[in-house]
Amino acid sequence: MAELSEPPRLVWPTVGVRESYLAGERANLLEEGESIELLDEREKDFAGFVAQRRGVQIRWGVPSTMFWYVSGEHYLGALTIRHSLTPELADTGGHVGYHVVPPWRRQGHATRMLAAGLVECERLGLDRVLLTCMPDNHASRRVILANGGVPDGRGSTEDRFWITLGAQGRALSGP
Ligand SMILES: CC(C)(COP(=O)(O)OP(=O)(O)OC[C@H]1O[C@@H](n2cnc3c(N)ncnc32)[C@H](O)[C@@H]1OP(=O)(O)O)[C@@H](O)C(=O)NCCC(=O)NCCS
Repeated sequence: MAELSEPPRLVWPTVGVRESYLAGERANLLEEGESIELLDEREKDFAGFVAQRRGVQIRWGVPSTMFWYVSGEHYLGALTIRHSLTPELADTGGHVGYHVVPPWRRQGHATRMLAAGLVECERLGLDRVLLTCMPDNHASRRVILANGGVPDGRGSTEDRFWITLGAQGRALSGP
């Protein structure tokens, strides 16, 4: 396991972590039993892929921003903020989605990455944020609860949590 020379932070997708991104996302897809073919496409034109991912884009039918969690040349994971909710996102998906790639898991990175993501949500003007996760995703549930998530029942498949931004209860603060 590589040592991190600086604390990770959320940045826009960058070509500076190319090798680490491809290795980490390959491990992630293999773990999920998914095809790694899309990574071959990204590898062929990584600069083009990165350019396409930067800034606000319409995804899931709403303006969305993707961040990568990066320390130096190391890519640790990604976090996406959906600036608003559709009825579908209010049921499943919520405002924020994230993952940490396998080489960097179980070191507290997701908990700190979500804390940093909530700061970005505040910058976007959101005052409360919906997160959802599968009932058996104990790690993600812990990440959400550590960041002040308040359970709000279950949608069609996923548990729902609200985080009020600027609330005293939030365990961690962003950068
Ligand atoms: C869920 C995920 C983001 C957690 O990332 P992570 O960096 O390992 O999380 P952290 O190190 O911050 O751990 C958070 C808590 O979960 C626990 N945890 C982490 N992995 C775990 C596992 N596989 N089983 C049980 N608990 C786990 C940690 O011990 C920690 O508990 P603590 O708060 O009591 O210390 C990561 O496993 C992942 O990307 N999974 C696939 C994608 C996904 O599920 N995304 C979320 C969708 S809602």
